[in-house]
Amino acid sequence: MTDHTPDVRKGLNGVIADYTAVSKVMPETNSLTYRGYAVQDLVANCSFEEVFYLLWNGELPTAEQLREFNEKGRSYRSLDPGLIALIHSLPRDCHPMDVMRTAVSYMGTKDQDHFTPDAEHITEVGHRLLAQLPMVLAMDIRRREGKDIVAPDPSKSVAENLLSMVFGNGSDSPASNVDDVRDFEKSLILYAEHSFNASTFTGRVITSTRSDVYSAITGAIGALKGPLHGGANEFVMHTMLEIDDPDKAAQWVNDALDNKDLIMGFGHRVYKKGDSRVPSMEASFRALAERHDGAKWVAMYENMRDAMDERTGIKPNLDFPAGPAYHLLGFPVDFFTPLFVIARVAGWTAHIVEQYRDNSLIRPLSAYNGPEQREIGSPSAA
Ligand code: COA
Repeated sequence: MTDHTPDVRKGLNGVIADYTAVSKVMPETNSLTYRGYAVQDLVANCSFEEVFYLLWNGELPTAEQLREFNEKGRSYRSLDPGLIALIHSLPRDCHPMDVMRTAVSYMGTKDQDHFTPDAEHITEVGHRLLAQLPMVLAMDIRRREGKDIVAPDPSKSVAENLLSMVFGNGSDSPASNVDDVRDFEKSLILYAEHSFNASTFTGRVITSTRSDVYSAITGAIGALKGPLHGGANEFVMHTMLEIDDPDKAAQWVNDALDNKDLIMGFGHRVYKKGDSRVPSMEASFRALAERHDGAKWVAMYENMRDAMDERTGIKPNLDFPAGPAYHLLGFPVDFFTPLFVIARVAGWTAHIVEQYRDNSLIRPLSAYNGPEQREIGSPSAA
């Protein structure tokens, strides 16, 4: 490298952009902590609401704090009539992530305080999103299936209430099975936060301009939609459904690699030896498969994982077990990434508060590699 060669880090790879106290990713030990607690410990011992509270407040709630948190959040479980009409007006074949993004953008138009950049307002909005985005998602699934909505229930947790609004309360609904509710809840905890990933960083960039929280979340949803980020959980299941036969999985993986295709659900920008969240999610996926006749998807998972490992050494990321787990719960594939949105609202809002508290406009430099300076009409401009 000469003195004139700029130090360009494509994709900001390896760049430390700021401090955060929200979570710590430790690739050397394949571990992840939220506010100092190992994610496996949180999955084993906490509800999604407790983890949400922890991400916002830095400490786990006492029983009284949790009661207040739940009471407040659940009081927001109703949708603005204008938003209901808007959801029903959207094309039935649009991507559900576009509905989520549009819903958050709409909510911003109805909030007179939306330009108040303080922690209290941001967490207030976070409460509303946590209460209402599951309703948006459930309404969107059911309108596409021509079904009436199922009313939210203030006595239920976020996970149980979401399953009940999507699948109803019959005996065959996952909402009626405590183990299904718990495995689903574990996926929300695992998806809740992951330091400076692309969508969180997008939210922080928008926040750094002192824009409003709805704009930051809307932008974050747009970033999450991409298949290199959150959209991967949908692509994992599309791939598994396309392969269909676990005995064909190894051949499929090898063909894709020969073709230089990316295989969704594998690899990570930060973890190179494996994703800290995979063992917990894989355990829930296997438990769901036991209860829901999912041996085929476990075999598919193992055969794809082993073929990828043998050929490249690249390990699965969280989306790899999450995709088939959501399929076994019965969610339509296009709704997997919207589920990720609901969980990640916790991390996004925690980061937005942190960015506001100690803000510096995020504005990197670029190295120019276009034409030399020239004048209009000069031969080189022709
Ligand atoms: N399938 C096939 N090849 C992959 C791969 C995958 N999922 N992930 C990485 N590779 C390859 C890269 O193409 C690269 O090959 P090359 O050296 O021949 O160019 C090599 O492995 C090293 O990749 P790396 O630079 O470490 O990846 P990255 O940090 O740029 O990208 C991801 C990380 C997540 C974008 C990438 O792994 C990917 O696209 N994965 C699939 C999408 C996905 O599951 N996203 C969810 C992430 S949680």
